[in-house]
Amino acid sequence: MVSLKNQDTPIDFASVKKQIERSGIKSIGKASIRELVSLINEIEIETKEKYIRMEMGVPGLASPGIGINAEIKALKSGVSSKYPMIDGITPLKNEISRFVKYFLNIDVTPKSCIPTVGSMQGGFAAFLMLTKLDPIKDTVLFIDPGFPVQKQQLEVLDKKFKTFDVYNFRGEALKEKLESYLLKGNISTIIYSNPNNPSWICFTDNELKIIGDLANKYNVIVIEDMAYFGMDFRKDYSIPGQEPYQPTVANFTDNWLLLISSSKAFSYAGQRVGMMVINDKLFNKSFDSLNRIYGNPLFGHNLIYKVLYALSSGVTHSAQYGLAAMLKAVNDGSFDFIEHVKVYGERAKVMKKMFINNGFTIVYDKDEDKPLADGFYFTFSYKNMTGSELLEKLLYYGVSAISLAITGSDRIEGLRACVSQTDASQFADLEYRLREFNKHFS
Ligand SMILES: Cc1ncc(COP(=O)(O)O)c(C=O)c1O
Repeated sequence: MVSLKNQDTPIDFASVKKQIERSGIKSIGKASIRELVSLINEIEIETKEKYIRMEMGVPGLASPGIGINAEIKALKSGVSSKYPMIDGITPLKNEISRFVKYFLNIDVTPKSCIPTVGSMQGGFAAFLMLTKLDPIKDTVLFIDPGFPVQKQQLEVLDKKFKTFDVYNFRGEALKEKLESYLLKGNISTIIYSNPNNPSWICFTDNELKIIGDLANKYNVIVIEDMAYFGMDFRKDYSIPGQEPYQPTVANFTDNWLLLISSSKAFSYAGQRVGMMVINDKLFNKSFDSLNRIYGNPLFGHNLIYKVLYALSSGVTHSAQYGLAAMLKAVNDGSFDFIEHVKVYGERAKVMKKMFINNGFTIVYDKDEDKPLADGFYFTFSYKNMTGSELLEKLLYYGVSAISLAITGSDRIEGLRACVSQTDASQFADLEYRLREFNKHFS
């Protein structure tokens, strides 16, 4: 428990202290996102104060009407009584294939485009498949920091993983670091998110080429997690079929599997529908190991008819129609999905400035030599406080975040802030609270 000399904090000191004690959380710095959500809910109820809630990466925008209306229409037409095909409804598969062509400039047949119950399920299914391809390659490598639940998935599956924080290995330095793991011969899969949750770093083409080249050299599969597709707002990726395209490792290797979430880019988190896109060569590839386990050697076939069948037997029928309609509008150029979410970048710009003006430092601040984009997340620290200390102290000032320590980051001083739940009406509160914090601790 932290001790604050000045107990005149923006949120009633005794109430926050009591609720932290009541929560049973032993170390705030190690608390999971959901534990923090529950703790702050309790403090808000007791104090009737509204927090600047930056702990959870939930979309802060309404779902596009195009998706909702298409779902209603599909439901009224009776889809809810029928099982969806496991590999996805045809219109959705076609639109995913078009989307990947128009926004990544990558050719994939609709057959290799599969809806999943969020990217969460896509990742789980991918781990299940990719760790079975070669008995010697039994380990997944995370280029961290990363999304904590993916490691939880591997723990649930009882699979091995290794991780390293990319902070000190940007640009050319990434090659030697990655190769030091791949040389051992036990890595089946490399996974990272781009743009990155939690740091919002975006790999450059140079870095993606390093990853792709090494994936070729060591025959490993890259899971590129695009949960924040197109949301590096420094470039305009919004025009279908026109440069610039969202950067991807798919330009440099055939060994890839993409996870494209609809949760943030399309504000569709509640419907749990995401996209898994697999390189056609990988989809159609035969593996002896799969033949031994499943009696069929084909990667794509087993992924669909063994793994996804066993996990959920497909994705909610109406949600697929909703996503298909949104993608069609985006692909046809009649709905600019990036414009819809740009507000996150605008918020981040203002909020980062407030933190910096009040003595805080941005932890992950560059992509090679370029300043980081403003987007869904940013990372910050305060003087020489550890992240855990900082997180707990900030709770007395009505500000919540999560510790980078739970994301595989070595920057133990850092916290992750998510901007999605803080709109302009709360900026004055945030500024006041950060000023008070800085006054008390500088
Ligand atoms: C990096 C990353 N991957 C995957 C997901 C899960 O996405 P979905 O909601 O599509 O399951 C998230 C959600 O926050 C994420 O940040």
